[in-house]
Amino acid sequence: MPFLKNAEPAVSEVVRKALREGLASAQSPAAVFFNLRAYQQKLVELSEAFPYPALNALAVKTNPLVKMLKMAADKGFGAECASAGELAIAKKAGFPAGRIVFDSPVKTEQEIRYALDEKIHINADNAQELALICRLMKNELSCRKGSIGLRINPGLPLNEYNRYFSAEERNNITGMRSSKFGVLLGQAKALLIQNDEFSKILTGLHVHIGSQKSPVEMLIRGIKNAVGLAEYLNRNHNYQIRTFDIGGGLPVKYRDTDRTISFGAFSNLLYSEVPLLRNYSVITEFGRAVFANSGWAASKVEYTKTVKNEHNNEIKLALTHIGKNMISRYHELLILDSAGGLKTGAPIPQTIGGPLCFSGDLIGINRTLPLIQPGDWVIIKDVGAYTFSEWSFNANRRFSPIYGYNEENNFSILREGQTAEEVASFWE
Ligand SMILES: Cc1ncc(COP(=O)(O)O)c(C=O)c1O
Repeated sequence: MPFLKNAEPAVSEVVRKALREGLASAQSPAAVFFNLRAYQQKLVELSEAFPYPALNALAVKTNPLVKMLKMAADKGFGAECASAGELAIAKKAGFPAGRIVFDSPVKTEQEIRYALDEKIHINADNAQELALICRLMKNELSCRKGSIGLRINPGLPLNEYNRYFSAEERNNITGMRSSKFGVLLGQAKALLIQNDEFSKILTGLHVHIGSQKSPVEMLIRGIKNAVGLAEYLNRNHNYQIRTFDIGGGLPVKYRDTDRTISFGAFSNLLYSEVPLLRNYSVITEFGRAVFANSGWAASKVEYTKTVKNEHNNEIKLALTHIGKNMISRYHELLILDSAGGLKTGAPIPQTIGGPLCFSGDLIGINRTLPLIQPGDWVIIKDVGAYTFSEWSFNANRRFSPIYGYNEENNFSILREGQTAEEVASFWE
């Protein structure tokens, strides 16, 4: 479902209440809101699709809000971390070490030592990292009981999937031969056969094929090929690989035409295509599909103007407070009036610009929407994943406040907005 089905009147109600309570105002002209019931529902769907003993480790980079992660930690979920900062976030959110997966493609020796000491599962990215882990585990008593995976790049023939990708999207596929992630399947096979010592420490394999645009058949094919490698190594080379981390990558709907699949349907398809996966203790690392659709942003329109293109055609522009500092991809937009009511009127093409200091700072180009006026609110849909977590410092805008709301539309603060002084003190 892009956004939440039929949610527009409900969003209008939430904005009206936020205006009454001063959470959205002339002084606080941009905020992110999370429908916490919708989020919790996604957690239920995920845990039903991959029930215990699978470990569902949420990708922290998608949405690092400690309070939302804590809700998941309390329900037995895990955390997938890509940096020392994310390990600290996971700790703050209350994930026990045994439910944390450390995945960074570039880990320092110190970070690896920390993860080994804490008994955090590490997915090594490459042969050199695996050798370093092996050395540390041999030499340091406290490190001896690590749980170690190796990221496999199945090297999928991307040309077979060309129809799914634009040139830009191809760069987001991590499971193609030229990608910087993991060890290519064939190379991994040779590496693990030739280095017997790895069989003493390696407990898992890991794949993550890409985010959003990767077709489901491609995700499954990557997993299947790497499970084949685990089976081969266990059968023929003294390996005891017991854990298989399938990564994340399930797409969500940002627009009606986006192809997607529920966690349940994906799990059914995966286990029917890769029955050998049942031999392993499974880790999942979903992010986007958990968080994207339950979050939306409200941004006040400050000014409007009309400009002209090179053909002398008029372009109606609306200028608002959230731009490319938070929004890097297509999101559907909804316009509310200054009181939070659904805006009506004949839709006309308009372009919505953000507050940053470069001309590409546009969050909607030629969108057909009711006439936008100063004081209106632009609602940016489906911003729960990879938006504020990829915040840019351009123009040093203040980070927006983030609120959750429950079924009664009661608000809770998920993160305070930044003050100008806090922005300044970052640079001190
Ligand atoms: C290693 C790893 N696992 C999981 C994820 C989450 O992917 P998604 O949000 O598409 O589920 C990512 C995202 O880039 C990743 O790099």
